[in-house]
Amino acid sequence: MTYYYEGFPQSERDEYIKMVNVDQLEEEVKKIMPEGAYYYIASGSENEWTWRNNTTAFNHYQIVPRALTDMDDPQTDTEFLGMKLKTPIMISPIACHGIAHKDAEVATQKGAAAAGALFSSSTYANKSVEEIAAAAPEAPRLFQLYLSKDWKFNEMVFDAIKKAGYKGILLTVDALVSGYREANIRTKFTYPVPLDFFTRYSGAKGQGQSVAQMYAASAQKIGPEDVRRIKEMSGLPVIVKGVCCAEDAYKAIGAGADGIYVTNHGGREIDGSPATIDLLPEIAAAVNHRVPIIFDSGVRRGSHVFKALALGADIVGIGRPYLYGLALGGPKGVESVLNQLNEELVIDMQLTGCKTIEDVKHAKIAHIPYTADNLPSNTSPAVVKPYPKTDENQIKTVGDSDAVSGASKH
Ligand SMILES: Cc1cc2nc3c(=O)[nH]c(=O)nc-3n(C[C@H](O)[C@H](O)[C@H](O)COP(=O)(O)O)c2cc1C
Repeated sequence: MTYYYEGFPQSERDEYIKMVNVDQLEEEVKKIMPEGAYYYIASGSENEWTWRNNTTAFNHYQIVPRALTDMDDPQTDTEFLGMKLKTPIMISPIACHGIAHKDAEVATQKGAAAAGALFSSSTYANKSVEEIAAAAPEAPRLFQLYLSKDWKFNEMVFDAIKKAGYKGILLTVDALVSGYREANIRTKFTYPVPLDFFTRYSGAKGQGQSVAQMYAASAQKIGPEDVRRIKEMSGLPVIVKGVCCAEDAYKAIGAGADGIYVTNHGGREIDGSPATIDLLPEIAAAVNHRVPIIFDSGVRRGSHVFKALALGADIVGIGRPYLYGLALGGPKGVESVLNQLNEELVIDMQLTGCKTIEDVKHAKIAHIPYTADNLPSNTSPAVVKPYPKTDENQIKTVGDSDAVSGASKH
């Protein structure tokens, strides 16, 4: 089930994915995705220190189990900027979903809508904002803006997203230039599928452009005045994406931001910047509930979502995992990834007596510096190897029954 766009293979799948955890999708996706495309998604910048720490730093915080909570059936529905959602897990904006699937962002939007999750489109989407909106007309969605140096381009974008019913703008301020992403240089990566807004503005497809070339077309100089101007011109709420300290949260709110998005772009910009989960408590204290907070970078577990909510986030974004889901299962694959993380979250809610997402935001988190972070776990894809098969470790079928317990038959 592969379609070729000018020779580039795109998945055409639409099927649920069985998984034990979302990490395992990384290896699976390599089997159907060209190397340059895979590394464009998977890699971080320079030595990938920040990319690695985004996930491992969740271990700096621990969820305290609660007893005698007299509670069952936790519910994950929540609200964000007046939008009703079935889960606090959001689709973070990612460029060029056509790398993963023939139906690109249209397929992702369908999967997100089926899971009741908030979707966001990148300025560098392959599909038009109208096509994406038509895929799930009632579903809530936001638009991510790479501000252009050319305000006529910006105006065209604002008109289109307003008409298409987008509910707000994520203004990306942490990627004024691309981080030094060695994998893209090594594989000579260029966008293989045209990007809608570039095609419609200039006729130039954006296809065949390198990541650095695309960034060069957007503004390197963005200040508080731009936040005000975008709000005024678009008439939409503006959330500043890429806030990593309290000072910048104050600055953004002072400029009229309607929300703060704590992210380090998934470790793709400054390598050596802190993991975002370590920055969240300081920023949440500075924001002090004046505006909502979106958080992302490194989220791979329901427990990571739980910790981010408990440390001050209102919505928690995922990036790479849903793109792997898109490649491996199309719309249903995206839904599978969101459901997997949500189900893990529900387990932690039950075990901490949190009936609602509001309860999770008040859950008890410990901050104890353990030192076992780098020990491999049984669930790590690097550690899971084929289980040895011996005469002694096989379960024997008894009578007609296939029912076995305690271990698997090979
Ligand atoms: C392949 C890829 C492309 C991305 N494209 C964009 C983009 O166009 N605009 C943007 O604001 N962020 C972009 N991001 C950053 C994501 O919005 C998000 O912050 C990040 O993926 C979260 O980290 P995670 O992948 O570890 O979950 C991109 C990330 C990846 C992995």
